[in-house]
Amino acid sequence: MTKKQLLMEKISNHSAIIGVVGLGYVGLPFAVEKGKVGFKVIGIEQNSQRAQMINKGQNYILDVDDEELKKLVDNDFITAEIDFQLVPEMDVIVICVPTPLTRNLTPDLHYVDSVTREIAPRMRPGQLITLESTTYPGTTEEIMLPILQTSGLKVEEDFFLAHSPERVDPGNLRYTTKNTNKVVGGVGSESLDVAMTFYGQTIDHVVPVSCAKAAELSKVFENTFRAVNIALVNEITMLCDRMGLNVWEVLDASFTKPFGIMPFYPGPGVGGHCIPLDPHYLEWKAKEVNFNTHFIALAGEINRKMPEFVRDKAIRILNAAGVPSSKARILVMGVAYKKDIKDERESPAIDIIRLLQKEFAEVIYHDPYVEHFNEHGLIMQSSPLSEEIVASCDLVIITTDHSNIDYQWLVDKSKRIFDTRNTTKQVTGGRVKITLL
Ligand SMILES: NC(=O)c1ccc[n+]([C@@H]2O[C@H](COP(=O)([O-])OP(=O)(O)OC[C@H]3O[C@@H](n4cnc5c(N)ncnc54)[C@H](O)[C@@H]3O)[C@@H](O)[C@H]2O)c1
Repeated sequence: MTKKQLLMEKISNHSAIIGVVGLGYVGLPFAVEKGKVGFKVIGIEQNSQRAQMINKGQNYILDVDDEELKKLVDNDFITAEIDFQLVPEMDVIVICVPTPLTRNLTPDLHYVDSVTREIAPRMRPGQLITLESTTYPGTTEEIMLPILQTSGLKVEEDFFLAHSPERVDPGNLRYTTKNTNKVVGGVGSESLDVAMTFYGQTIDHVVPVSCAKAAELSKVFENTFRAVNIALVNEITMLCDRMGLNVWEVLDASFTKPFGIMPFYPGPGVGGHCIPLDPHYLEWKAKEVNFNTHFIALAGEINRKMPEFVRDKAIRILNAAGVPSSKARILVMGVAYKKDIKDERESPAIDIIRLLQKEFAEVIYHDPYVEHFNEHGLIMQSSPLSEEIVASCDLVIITTDHSNIDYQWLVDKSKRIFDTRNTTKQVTGGRVKITLL
């Protein structure tokens, strides 16, 4: 049997040992999905607190079921390590580490680079390595492959290398890791075969592409598509504000067309680990071939402007009520970057808080999922959502449309509301208090 056949057999009969590097929003749900079908999963997580929690069967990711994780840990299907000593035991190694941007909006691949350097000296023949982190086209072949080949092993013969971008949508109950189509590209046809077999074990539909670069580009394109369309509706929002039109009514009317259009909605800006960051990976890489990605630059510019637009409109609402911003008490409802999750990374709500604080307003926030945050030195604690607190605020700004808030109650108890998400759409009483984005 060749190394490839042996590995494919181990994968098919689920005796392969799966390593997952980085047990975060992507890595932990993935590890659980593999554990559930009988694979033994070894996680490598540099955050020792997280690794300890896993080994005690304690969950810290909202999309993961507490009981399911505990059962898998108790039955030895999932364990966590803080170093790479067990790499030789693994048949498949899946990398799910962060891919942030530097302050100058250029790719920061130091996580991918450092884990690849940890893996290379510990590799053995017959392993599949796949990268799931979102990145620019070329990362797997140009950054990872040369490092992995310092092991002396030959790709496509001794080991296999692929890119399969993660598409998890935190908080989405309809589309999970299992029923979301997964794109896979290998650095060669042998790697593609092995990776297709691996992903096919737990994912309903796996979509092959001709190379790892195509898989990498497909993912950044998906996020660019969202960033550009969100920027388009955000721009229309600012135009509607000037024209005195209700953008939500305009968009809802447009989206009744049954073809040639798809719904995107405006908001206070974009947040999270994907939409504000990933397009800039492509923008940076495009420069290497002397190409300017105009849409990406423009979308980034418009989306980053939204928190300032929210601030300006909030000040207008306060002025109309005779309250100067320096005397205003403002309640920001929601700092998670999107509804029903507890991730506040890159959240526009936090930018809005800072901007309002610069106008000398007293700003408090409430988020049922984010009890406290520390973002670049701004440390805040979620305030309770009591009738007294809501009534004491001159303005409530809804920045995240969490489902577990009683919005009719919020409107009833507040003096005035600025709703940046049209979350109060179904609210019937007290509409006169509500201003929409
Ligand atoms: N969160 C999402 O919704 C989402 C969706 C699709 C794709 N992605 C992409 O997936 C990748 C991971 O994102 P995430 O949201 O899961 O990030 P995360 O920050 O939630 O998790 C990453 C984990 O990797 C760990 N880590 C960092 N360096 C490590 C190292 N050297 N060794 C071991 N562990 C290490 C961190 O401690 C952390 O627990 C990123 O490229 C992201 O763009 C994220």
